[in-house]
Amino acid sequence: MNSSDLAAYWMPFTANRQFKAAPRLFVAAEGMHFTTDDGRRVLDGMAGLWCVNAGHGRKPIVEAIRAQAGIMAFAPPFQMGHPLAFKVAQRLKRFLPGDLDHAFLTNSGSESVDTALKIALAYHRARGESQRRWLIGRERGYHGANFGGTSVGGIAANRKAYGNLLACVDHLQHTHDPEHNSYSRGQPAWGAHLADELETRIVALHDAGNIAAVIVEPLAGSTGVLVPPVDYLERLRAICDRYGILLIFDEVITGFGRLGSSFACEKFSVLPDIVCLAKGLTNGAVPMGAVVVRKAIYETVTGAAPENAIELFHGYTYSGHPLASAAALATLDLLEDEQLFARSAELAPYFEQAVHSLRELPHVIDIRNLGLVAGIELAPKPGQPGARAFSVFQRCFELGVLIRTTGDTIALSPPLIISKPQIDELIATIARVLRELADR
Ligand SMILES: Cc1ncc(COP(=O)(O)O)c(C=O)c1O
Repeated sequence: MNSSDLAAYWMPFTANRQFKAAPRLFVAAEGMHFTTDDGRRVLDGMAGLWCVNAGHGRKPIVEAIRAQAGIMAFAPPFQMGHPLAFKVAQRLKRFLPGDLDHAFLTNSGSESVDTALKIALAYHRARGESQRRWLIGRERGYHGANFGGTSVGGIAANRKAYGNLLACVDHLQHTHDPEHNSYSRGQPAWGAHLADELETRIVALHDAGNIAAVIVEPLAGSTGVLVPPVDYLERLRAICDRYGILLIFDEVITGFGRLGSSFACEKFSVLPDIVCLAKGLTNGAVPMGAVVVRKAIYETVTGAAPENAIELFHGYTYSGHPLASAAALATLDLLEDEQLFARSAELAPYFEQAVHSLRELPHVIDIRNLGLVAGIELAPKPGQPGARAFSVFQRCFELGVLIRTTGDTIALSPPLIISKPQIDELIATIARVLRELADR
């Protein structure tokens, strides 16, 4: 494609002018690899974008989508239904703990987050506590790109262009302090006490009776892989319980085996009231997300409306889209049939060892990991935040390896089907590039 072919598309979260001057285009993908438009194979170290957990081009998913497209590609989701959407909701129950047993279907993680926030407000209103309007996020959190998610999100660059966003929002501090928990393997021992701020500052300031929900990523991904300290999530849960505040886990990247279990809430044995999910649900093949809520939330909201009335004035034209539903059902089958969550758990120690082998390399200032996620933080170039990691990304791509960078952190999240030799290749390529760029 020449530069005039590229001009019209305004690319998301991309340096458009830089990209269009030197484009990187994928045209095919299979298993662990993409193919570029000039015919090179590139090893995928980021599962597409944290979503292709079962690897690319999986035949059962492709066939399910193809078959459903020929039967019925669309059915209206409001006041009508089709069987596959109900089956997806039913199947999701098997993947989530406790009484997280009702699913609202969306088309993305961002929609899941905004849906979850609205459900939290609707729930309190249905209980007669409509003054509970405050939504509490966390610094360095990423909850998608819509207005609700951007408001509770805590990444300055994502917020600064958009004014005040939602009014009743506050943020907890994030959990990373290089002085105390750098180079942790798995969950850092330090930091559980940071959850207490919910009580000592946020509840004290806004009053618990005004707070609807707290939303956190159990492991913060997009901000550079921040692993929750031991006992941190448990403490958040306990404080929320004490004050009737809903706890929302944004599991858009931690779901579907990324941490070596179905979901982070399962891994950490902390039961949230609402879970946001997306990405791995369809293996990235068709956009789909979901918000899964505990029984009492569904029953309270639906039960508060008059008989025969719509209970929640919210939804999307493509909620539970037939092609997405078909892709989701095939994906969930595949994840179970191939026991990919167990595989992710088995590979995690090898992956941990491999990523921590980068510790002494030039520019590395921290390494964090859990399950099949790792963050390798580099010292920023003076006055040019993100530039160092971006040059590592570019050079890895030239050498046939796809990594993700966020700020100056390399975030790795390979498909769960990655082999040990492929982990070695991923890490060896990053090591080579860091050595090459030692003086730059
Ligand atoms: C934790 C989290 N929440 C929400 C989102 C937004 O998902 P989407 O890009 O599908 O809207 C992301 C995307 O990376 C995410 O990591």
